[in-house]
Amino acid sequence: MKYFKLFNILGATFGAIIQAELLNTNYRVNQPIINVVDVKKQNGVVCLPDFFPLQDYDPMRPASIPSYSLPQYDENKYTGPNSELDSDILDLLNSLSLEEKAGQMIQLQVGLFIGCDGLINTTAIESMFDEWKIGSVLEATQNRRSRWNINSPQRFANFTNTIQNIALKKGSKIPIIYGLDSIRGANYVKGGTIFPAPVNIAATFNHIHAYNCGKISAKDSRSAGVHWVFSPLADVNMNKLWSRNFENFGEDPYLAGEMVYHSIKGLQGDYKNDRSKVAACVKHFIGYSSPINGQDRQISLIPWNFLLEYLVPPFKRAIDSGVATVMETYGQLNFQSTISSNKILGELLRIELGFNGTLISDWGEVNSQCYRYKTAFDIEDAVRMTLNNGSLDMSMTPDDVMFAKSTIDLVRSGKVDVKRIDESVGRILQLKKDLGLFASPYSDPKLIETVGSIQDVELSRDAARESLILLKNENNALPLSTSEKVLFVGAAFDSITYTTGAWSQHWQGPNEFEGDKVYDIYGESINSGVRNITGNDTNYIVGYDINGVRSHGYKKVVKAARTADKVVFILGEKPSTEEVGNIRTLRMAEDQYNLVKSVSDLTDTPIILILAQNRPFSLGELSSEASAIMNIGLPGPYSGIPIAEVLYGKFSPSGRQPYTYPKLDYQASVTYYTPQWNEFDPEFSFGQGIGYNNITYSEITVNSTELRPGRPISVSVTAKNHGIMVQNEPVLLFTAQLVRRFHVSELYRLRAFDKQFISPGASYTFNFILTAEEMSFINMDMNRVLSEGPVNITINAFNDNAKIAQVYLYEN
Ligand SMILES: *[C@@H]1O[C@H](CO)[C@@H](O)[C@H](O)[C@H]1NC(C)=O
Ligand SMILES: *[C@@H]1O[C@H](CO)[C@@H](O)[C@H](O)[C@H]1NC(C)=O
Ligand SMILES: *[C@@H]1O[C@H](CO)[C@@H](O)[C@H](O)[C@H]1NC(C)=O
Ligand SMILES: *[C@@H]1O[C@H](CO)[C@@H](O)[C@H](O)[C@H]1NC(C)=O
Ligand SMILES: *[C@@H]1O[C@H](CO)[C@@H](O)[C@H](O)[C@H]1NC(C)=O
Ligand SMILES: *[C@@H]1O[C@H](CO)[C@@H](O)[C@H](O)[C@H]1NC(C)=O
Ligand SMILES: *[C@@H]1O[C@H](CO)[C@@H](O)[C@H](O)[C@H]1NC(C)=O
Ligand SMILES: *[C@@H]1O[C@H](CO)[C@@H](O)[C@H](O)[C@H]1NC(C)=O
Ligand SMILES: *[C@@H]1O[C@H](CO)[C@@H](O)[C@H](O)[C@H]1NC(C)=O
Repeated sequence: MKYFKLFNILGATFGAIIQAELLNTNYRVNQPIINVVDVKKQNGVVCLPDFFPLQDYDPMRPASIPSYSLPQYDENKYTGPNSELDSDILDLLNSLSLEEKAGQMIQLQVGLFIGCDGLINTTAIESMFDEWKIGSVLEATQNRRSRWNINSPQRFANFTNTIQNIALKKGSKIPIIYGLDSIRGANYVKGGTIFPAPVNIAATFNHIHAYNCGKISAKDSRSAGVHWVFSPLADVNMNKLWSRNFENFGEDPYLAGEMVYHSIKGLQGDYKNDRSKVAACVKHFIGYSSPINGQDRQISLIPWNFLLEYLVPPFKRAIDSGVATVMETYGQLNFQSTISSNKILGELLRIELGFNGTLISDWGEVNSQCYRYKTAFDIEDAVRMTLNNGSLDMSMTPDDVMFAKSTIDLVRSGKVDVKRIDESVGRILQLKKDLGLFASPYSDPKLIETVGSIQDVELSRDAARESLILLKNENNALPLSTSEKVLFVGAAFDSITYTTGAWSQHWQGPNEFEGDKVYDIYGESINSGVRNITGNDTNYIVGYDINGVRSHGYKKVVKAARTADKVVFILGEKPSTEEVGNIRTLRMAEDQYNLVKSVSDLTDTPIILILAQNRPFSLGELSSEASAIMNIGLPGPYSGIPIAEVLYGKFSPSGRQPYTYPKLDYQASVTYYTPQWNEFDPEFSFGQGIGYNNITYSEITVNSTELRPGRPISVSVTAKNHGIMVQNEPVLLFTAQLVRRFHVSELYRLRAFDKQFISPGASYTFNFILTAEEMSFINMDMNRVLSEGPVNITINAFNDNAKIAQVYLYEN
């Protein structure tokens, strides 16, 4: 009780001194006042109409100073959560009432705090905090009927600080932690530097980009008063139909794990000291990416040995990197409801992986137990199972306070032990302290001026540059020359929206009324990139309708293509994710095939395909009709210049496929680690990709052909650049166990990768270490075992310049 009382007294006397003893120092909490331009008065409008495409665009922008530097902290040491609470946190916990504890465990979405006029409703916030002592809020107001469409960091901070100020005065007076879905930069903060989608980051095979994206995302979030981002995804692509493939780092567990690790280092770094960092939240634990029918949130059936071998490793890397929080996944795994599963959340996550931090639910998962999945009689029953059998700490409820109410009732009626509540609330309070929220609960106004800095934008462009995957280039169709007459066709050519995708500005990306206007000055389309690079107007026809409605402009396109030297089609889809993005076939909108086909049938002009997509759409005959194909994924708002640069040969592309690109739907679940003897005949393989230069490889040298536990071997290979351009060259090291008794082994497994710049005429020797332990696998008895046999070490499998060395794997 003592801290609670002390706090009240001090609060009354000094206004804003918080938990002095909690941090052994008297921190004076000065609330920054960040003025924002007032709303345009909409004459006589009290409540906004149901549909209001004409929301006000925030006229404010951050200063975006051209360069800045922030204090450096040691990010190499492990700084993650541990299982012990600090003594001041324990004291605070012991001072809380049951109602205050229950309030810490819920997270509400900000729509509850926006009035029908689209403005912040402080009356609603005050009464909610007074009564339910809310611990956390989430979401961007522009997703929730706010008057302001796309908030400047100033407006965002004004909003979060207003809530924080109320939280410090009402209810438990404990600062809130504000969470947001920022998966590729602070994608809901106007001017916040948005990066290529995670699948593009994976395609770079260079983890610096995962780190940079995390670092800028953290700083821009913190400037807006956001302390927690629900990122990264450690799911691995298991079904190419799934609408969320672009949000994670491809299909390979090792690649995904490396990217996840560095993404968390960027987001969190030394988050217990560095106030430009946020808490990361690795998600979705576990099995979300494998819906059997490819539809979002449908059932996943995953053999446990498969789960441990392919899906757990990226999560393990996340926990190794010190991730502060984890999000459990929607629904079920193998018919067991995840949120109440001791096997998944208790034994696997807490015990086996040793996760000591805060575990949050996905959106509305507790309520969904009774409303959607029918795994609980009512909400109280769902809360009871969640608490007694799972290991959840915080419920993203997010629309009501039923979780808190049920928790209070369950403890009072003896159905849930208060010790279980203390365990979770302790973790939440410790997280808040680790993030510095007791000492500095408000946003740091100084960070605002760095938002949108060209320094950050260049990092996004670098990531985009390295993520572009050239898959085919016959007769040197690429690069283009400024002396050629090039026809560009496709809605995605002149759209930041279609080259960025969902989770940007809004959950589903900008809507059709807004289009690129919501990007304000923060981005460039490919069209403006090409104009920038060529210094000339572009010859451009939209050609198709992104919604798939058959267009009538074929004749015009064919006519223009006849007089062009080359025609570049930019094929794409509308931004979408989650259930909104469900598709039933990997075929693109028919119109896009027909348009390309009509040019191919009726002209001799070489065709270049640029694919801007959430997921791999089937190419069918377009694959052979095109002279060149480049997969650009969703490279983000700053990719216009990088794409123009690669098209016009300012640099040589270096992306590699981070997933297997299927030919048709029947290959939607094919990964490159299929058994050796299985059919593997995709459109493009994992790891496939070329540059403009001819790079040759020496034979592989190993310092021993015997691979034994405890005795790593070195593997080296030298790449030579015979081209005329600098080549940023990724090298992927795979292994293939040619015979494995009792268990089939995979076609290949990626074990290492590296990427280096090689000048024209120069060579570079790549060195790797391979261990026998890496060659172990999980058997049906859930044991990690080694099985002797010949192993091929293959560099750049699936590319023309692949090299192989054979070694023998011994069990001891
Ligand atoms: C938010 O902006 C308004 C309008 O300028 C101002 O009156 C208010 O004090 C600001 N609040 C905060 C917390 O910055
Ligand atoms: C979690 O805490 C336990 C006990 O303090 C510790 O042994 C374990 O290493 C921690 N886990 C991680 C990932 O640090
Ligand atoms: C603000 O919230 C209060 C309390 O919930 C409610 O009565 C009021 O109508 C809300 N105001 C607006 C403009 O929606
Ligand atoms: C759930 O937890 C309760 C209370 O600890 C326990 O009695 C019950 O056996 C558990 N149920 C399952 C399915 O694990
Ligand atoms: C601009 O394009 C036209 C036609 O494609 C070409 O004739 C002209 O030389 C180009 N100008 C520059 C500056 O590249
Ligand atoms: C091209 O873009 C760069 C970077 O945004 C800018 O500095 C330059 O002025 C642009 N050049 C042209 C010709 O648009
Ligand atoms: C690449 O360079 C090597 C060495 O000069 C040469 O043998 C090979 O034919 C070249 N490959 C291509 C595709 O040009
Ligand atoms: C091979 O190289 C590795 C890595 O440098 C080293 O640990 C190992 O001792 C070497 N083995 C032999 C047989 O030289
Ligand atoms: C394994 O390597 C050997 C020797 O380099 C080669 O002959 C063989 O084709 C390779 N096997 C596979 C399946 O790649």
